[in-house]
Amino acid sequence: MRLLVTGAAGFIGSHFVRLALHRAPGTKVGVIDALRYSGNRSTMADFANQTSFYQGAIQDKAFVDQTFSEFRPTHVVNFAAESHNDRSLVDNSDFVQTNTYGTQVLLEAARQHRLERILQVSTDEVYGSIDAGQFTEHSPIQPNTPYSASKAGGDLLCRAHWVSYKTPVIVTRGGNTFGPYHYPEKLIPFFLVRLLQGKKVPLYGEGSQVREWIHVRDHSAGIWTVLESGLPGEVYNVGDTNERTNLDVVRILLDELGLGLDRVKFIPDPRKGAHDARYSMTTTKVRGLGWSPREDFEEELRVTAKWFADNEEWWRPIVQNPGYESFVKKFYGPSLGEDL
Ligand SMILES: NC(=O)c1ccc[n+]([C@@H]2O[C@H](COP(=O)([O-])OP(=O)(O)OC[C@H]3O[C@@H](n4cnc5c(N)ncnc54)[C@H](O)[C@@H]3O)[C@@H](O)[C@H]2O)c1
Repeated sequence: MRLLVTGAAGFIGSHFVRLALHRAPGTKVGVIDALRYSGNRSTMADFANQTSFYQGAIQDKAFVDQTFSEFRPTHVVNFAAESHNDRSLVDNSDFVQTNTYGTQVLLEAARQHRLERILQVSTDEVYGSIDAGQFTEHSPIQPNTPYSASKAGGDLLCRAHWVSYKTPVIVTRGGNTFGPYHYPEKLIPFFLVRLLQGKKVPLYGEGSQVREWIHVRDHSAGIWTVLESGLPGEVYNVGDTNERTNLDVVRILLDELGLGLDRVKFIPDPRKGAHDARYSMTTTKVRGLGWSPREDFEEELRVTAKWFADNEEWWRPIVQNPGYESFVKKFYGPSLGEDL
């Protein structure tokens, strides 16, 4: 296998590369990343000399063609994305460019270069919100934010390329993922870096939204299993059964860091109508390929909190970046006020 992983300087992509190098030693691994705000060279430091790095954007057709010609991948796994819901509510043009059009460029290149497999990493958020029960791979796609809509666009293009051209594409839809190297803008890492800096954390509404969490190693292993054993043209949900309210999650983080609930500031929900109340999905299909999650949610959440406490040199340059500061100020400033 000659494996090309896009978005490898980001959170899940970097863990997936580590897993691939471990599970299949000797595999040639190439990585593509545009090094957008959430992509860091430091995240790839431990595998940089075992991989070939191509810096560029997946929606840049000439760059993708050139990279495919040079690296000659047999398998591509696409993690590259604009990945943050809140940012998509402020400005969503990059989301459509990368998540939808970028996927189209990769699918075309996969066809032209006759790849054996292309795996599109998608999200449970394409299904929208569910009050009770669980989404299956056959549930309708009803995304509620520009982020999830742009991902759904990518998923639909995958389906169309399979039906129209038999491009051997598989889609995975992962649950909310957590672990080390998570860019500090999503709930868990954002709260951790603020708590570690002595700041308050802004919790939307009453913190009652329910998310189904999966550890990044389990998510990566699920994607690996689907890459090896999944059927082209199919969709596989990759999730765990850890349903928790956001407040439950925050209570564990506070407990691990020895802090109290006074460090939480409950703020009006800035996502307004677009805040999905609950995500949950069945994983029978991927379990049928031999995968099941192994990590304990609470234990790994505590390990993640410790990792952020011990790895300030990784996140400090990120939070000191003017772009990061201005996003936090713009998005949370009005509700956090003097606690910003
Ligand atoms: N984080 C989650 O909870 C979660 C859950 C389910 C699915 N996913 C999906 O998994 C994938 C990875 O998510 P993540 O949390 O690791 O995201 P991330 O933001 O940490 O990483 C994304 C990476 O993609 C790169 N990138 C962005 N635009 C690019 C472009 N146009 N060309 C090339 N590279 C580009 C960034 O530089 C970054 O390194 C995404 O497709 C996301 O939709 C994430």
